[in-house]
Amino acid sequence: MAKVLIIGAGGVGGVVTHKCAQVPEVFSEIILASRTLEKCEKIKAQLPRPIETARVDADRPAEVAALMKRFRPDLLINVALPYQDLSLMDACLEAGVDYLDTANYEPPDEAKFSYTWQWAYRDRFRAKGLMALLGSGFDPGVTNVFCAYAQKHYFDEIHAVDIMDCNAGSHGHPFATNFNPEINIREITQPGRYWEGGRWIETGPLEVHRSFDFPQVGPREMYLLYHEEMESLVNNIKGLKRIRFWMTFGESYLTHLRVLENVGLTRIDPVLYEGHPVVPLKFLKSLLPDPASLAENYTGKTNIGCLFEGVKDGKARRIYIYNVCDHAACYREVKAQAISYTTGVPAMIGGLLMVTGAWRGQGVFNLEELDPDPFMERLNRHGLPWVIEER
Ligand SMILES: NC(=O)c1ccc[n+]([C@@H]2O[C@H](COP(=O)([O-])OP(=O)(O)OC[C@H]3O[C@@H](n4cnc5c(N)ncnc54)[C@H](OP(=O)(O)O)[C@@H]3O)[C@@H](O)[C@H]2O)c1
Repeated sequence: MAKVLIIGAGGVGGVVTHKCAQVPEVFSEIILASRTLEKCEKIKAQLPRPIETARVDADRPAEVAALMKRFRPDLLINVALPYQDLSLMDACLEAGVDYLDTANYEPPDEAKFSYTWQWAYRDRFRAKGLMALLGSGFDPGVTNVFCAYAQKHYFDEIHAVDIMDCNAGSHGHPFATNFNPEINIREITQPGRYWEGGRWIETGPLEVHRSFDFPQVGPREMYLLYHEEMESLVNNIKGLKRIRFWMTFGESYLTHLRVLENVGLTRIDPVLYEGHPVVPLKFLKSLLPDPASLAENYTGKTNIGCLFEGVKDGKARRIYIYNVCDHAACYREVKAQAISYTTGVPAMIGGLLMVTGAWRGQGVFNLEELDPDPFMERLNRHGLPWVIEER
């Protein structure tokens, strides 16, 4: 029986709260806190069991620590924004509470995400006997667990990994992002980067692309991006010679993005508008649909997985491990679209494994450092069944 504090009442926060509420034998008490209390109340009203809600500013560690000292949670699940990761880790250290998130820290004034800031907390978490689990969403998150599972059961050495994220759904809007628009657009407008032969190789933004035939979805054009899980996987996967990350985009999405970039609306530095400093990307975010609001009419499926090449017992082997998720089915279950769902379910599972003691440790961990088996078993049980294809 554990108490969990969920911070962030957006698309992902809604799913985490629903999924924790579905496991009352583990999460006996839930508190959902966010900047806008009404969003917490809206999620609370959808649930079959009572939870507490609170207003909190996650940028203020003392405010969060005070909330935790009152509520005394066993775990804080951070599904606010990556900007809040460090302040929430500070709050956990102050209140003596375990920590979990789904996206690594990035400074608000620079589009540069990296684990280095959070890995620097290892000694402090260890000294307090606390555990922090980083990146327990789908990618990062499940993709890291797929790598650990492939390494444990299918390969002696993994030589190449292609992580592929395909959303073949349709939400009916001319342009919208599936998770927080500011974070999403910062990520995909950066130069691409992949790792080969022991070093990082940079490409132009969305410059490298190819088609892949995704099971249950069909062929889609996918684009090479830099993505955060590669930063830890290059350290933790044996014999790795190459790792790349790919994401699918439609032509219309890319055309909109190109225009927005060309007119300067994806800039993150403040510009003066009628004497007031305005960050164009934040302004654009205020015009775009809230990702949670896309859920109701979303149709189609996602297919996210990892294609592995390597050797087992001296023979070459190639496998694809993936999950297919249906937007409309997610809405029926938890009033969310599949991107929020595929992030929120693994956040709940990571939290469940921590509070039940199945995953324990002192310090700061990425998911591939822990035993993948209980996580894989829980994915099947909690709505994200996976498939392994030998290729
Ligand atoms: N690993 C993965 O697979 C994966 C995939 C998708 C998303 N993610 C991550 O999941 C997280 C949530 O995404 P989302 O789509 O749910 O975003 P979202 O809909 O924008 O929700 C973010 C929530 O955090 C709240 N928030 C922001 N700043 C806050 C602060 N200072 N104090 C308290 N609450 C604050 C927001 O409050 P307001 O409502 O007041 O703005 C909002 O409710 C992001 O970090 C994203 O990068 C991970």
